[in-house]
Amino acid sequence: MNILGISCYYHDAAAVLLQDGILVAAAQEERFSRIKHDPSYPRLAIKFCLEHAGIKPSDLEYVVLHEKPMPKLERFLTCTLRYWPQASSLFQDGAIGWMKQKLWIRSRVAEELGIDRGKVLFVEHHMAHAASAFFCSPFSESAVLTVDGVGEWATATMGVATSSPCSINLSHEMRFPDSLGLLYSTFTAFLGFEVNEGEYKVMGMAPYGEPRFLSELNQVAHLNEDGSLRLDLSYFSFQYSSQRSFTKRFTDLFGQPRDSDLEFVTGRFDTGDGPEDLKQRNQHYADLAASIQKFTEDALLKMATHLQHTTGARNCCFAGGVALNSVANSKLLRSAGFDRIYIQPAAGDSGGALGAAQYVWHVLLGNPRSFVLEHAFWGQSYSNEEISSALAGTGAELIATEDELIERAVRDLVSGKVLGWFQGRFEWGPRSLGNRSILADPRSIEMKGIVNSKIKFREPFRPFAPVVPEECVDAMFVSPENLTEQYPARFMLLVMPWEDEAGKKVPGVNHQGTGRLQSLRREWNPRYHSLLKHFGEATGVPVLMNTSFNVRGEPIVASPSDALCTFRKSGLDVLYIGDYRLGK
Ligand SMILES: [Fe+2]
Repeated sequence: MNILGISCYYHDAAAVLLQDGILVAAAQEERFSRIKHDPSYPRLAIKFCLEHAGIKPSDLEYVVLHEKPMPKLERFLTCTLRYWPQASSLFQDGAIGWMKQKLWIRSRVAEELGIDRGKVLFVEHHMAHAASAFFCSPFSESAVLTVDGVGEWATATMGVATSSPCSINLSHEMRFPDSLGLLYSTFTAFLGFEVNEGEYKVMGMAPYGEPRFLSELNQVAHLNEDGSLRLDLSYFSFQYSSQRSFTKRFTDLFGQPRDSDLEFVTGRFDTGDGPEDLKQRNQHYADLAASIQKFTEDALLKMATHLQHTTGARNCCFAGGVALNSVANSKLLRSAGFDRIYIQPAAGDSGGALGAAQYVWHVLLGNPRSFVLEHAFWGQSYSNEEISSALAGTGAELIATEDELIERAVRDLVSGKVLGWFQGRFEWGPRSLGNRSILADPRSIEMKGIVNSKIKFREPFRPFAPVVPEECVDAMFVSPENLTEQYPARFMLLVMPWEDEAGKKVPGVNHQGTGRLQSLRREWNPRYHSLLKHFGEATGVPVLMNTSFNVRGEPIVASPSDALCTFRKSGLDVLYIGDYRLGK
C-alpha cells in the first residue's frame, strides 16, 4: 500500500512516501524549488517521491496532510475577531492565503494528483509530530512530547505511545497563545534574525552571554512546575500581527531590537575586536540570547520531567520545531529521568508529512510496526552519468577507485583545503549529515573563520559541528548516557561537552567546550565513514568539521548543478561529487 504524506502552506513544505509502512522517499520542497523554507504545495517533492518508487498518482491509496485546516481557520478567525481592529493586517495577510490555498487543500491535492477526494485525509498537527517520532523510533512503548510554535491550537502536547496495538494518546496539551516556540521565535525576531530560520543563530549566540534576564523573562512568561507556560500577552503582538511579534511594553523591558546588520563583537571568546560601545550593545543581545535559551531549557526540562514522573516511561520520543534545539535536547537527555530519547532528523514541520502518513498506516489502518529510521538519507540521488553531464567542460577528473578518492580527499583536507562533499541521496531534515556537506580540518581555530566568512558568508559567532566515528564517540565526549545508543546524536541534535584532551585537538568544532555531535556508523554511510577513518589515521584526530553545503540564505544543494553553482560562487577549494574531483 502506497501512502503519500504532505506538509505545506506554513513553512518547510515536504513530501514523504511510505510503501507498506516502510519509508521509501522523503524530501523538502526547498531542495528542488531552491526557495529557502518553501511553504508552497510540494509538487516537486511529490514528483520525486513517486518517481523514486516508480509509481503513478493512481497507485496511491491515501494522501495525508499534516494538519487539519478547519481548526486552524477557527484560530485565525477567533484571533481576528478578538483583537479587531489591531488584527486588521493579520486578517488581510492571512485571508488571502486562506481563500487562495488553505481552504481548498483537499480539492487541490485531488486535482493535482488526479485522485478521488476521498483518498485525501488529515491528521492533527501535533499528532503528526508525535507519530513521526514514535513510529520512526526503535521503542515498543514510549512517552511522547511535542513542542513547537503552534499547530491548529496546540503548542505542546504530551502523552504515551504503544506498539501493540499501535496507539498514541496525547493526554495533555498547551494551547495558543501560550507557546514556548512562539516565545523563542519572538526573541529570534527581536535579536534581528528571521523567524523559523534564525532560531539556530540565537542558540549559537547564547554561549557568548550570561542569562541575566531570567527575572524579566519570568515577568513576560510564567512557567509552571509541569512546564506549562502562561504568557502575559501585553508584551506580545504575534496573536494579532503578522508583521511584529512584540509590543512597546516588551521593548521598554528589553531595550530596542537588534539591527540585523549589527556586527557581532562582544569582547568575549573569539568574536574579534571592535569599539567598546559596540561590544557593550552586543553583550546586551548575547545576554538576552543566553536568557531565552536558558528559559527554554528550563521549561523543556520541567515538561519532560513531569512527563517522566507521570508515565514512569524509560523512553521519550520528542518532536516539533523546539526539538531541533540541540542544546536543550542534551539537558533533557541528561536530567529528565529518561534512559533514551528519540528525535527524527526532520523534527520540525516538514517531518509532519512523515508522521501523518505513519499515523494512517499504523493507527487508522492498524498495521504493526516494521520500520526504524536509522539514518537520514531519503532524498534524491544522482547517477555518475547525470553528474558527468553537469560537469561537462569543467575539467573535473574521474577518480578510478574508491581508495584513490579517499586518499586524495584526505590529502586535500590535511593541506587545509575546504571540500564540497556531494554523495548519494540528500538528507531528510535541516542538517547536512555527510551527503551534501562542506568538510574541513577542525584542528585549527582559523578554519572556523575561513569557512564562516569565505565559504558560507555567515555570522562569525555561528559554530560548526563535528562528525566522529561512532566507535570513538564515548571516549571523546563526556557522556554518562552511552551516546552510541542515542539516536539524536546521529542526526546532529545533541550538543555534548568534549573531553578536555579531545576538545583541545579540534578548536574549529569546539564551541565553549561543547560540540554539536554527529556520530557515524560505517553501515549508514560507508564512503563518509572511510573518509573520516583515513583522516583520523593521517592526523591522529578522527574528527571532521561538517556544515551544510549551501551559502547563507540558500537551501542546501540538491542536484549536481546546484553543487557546481555553489562551488563557483563560494570560496570552496575542491568539489568531490560522486566519483569526480573538481579543483579551482
Ligand atoms: Fe509544528
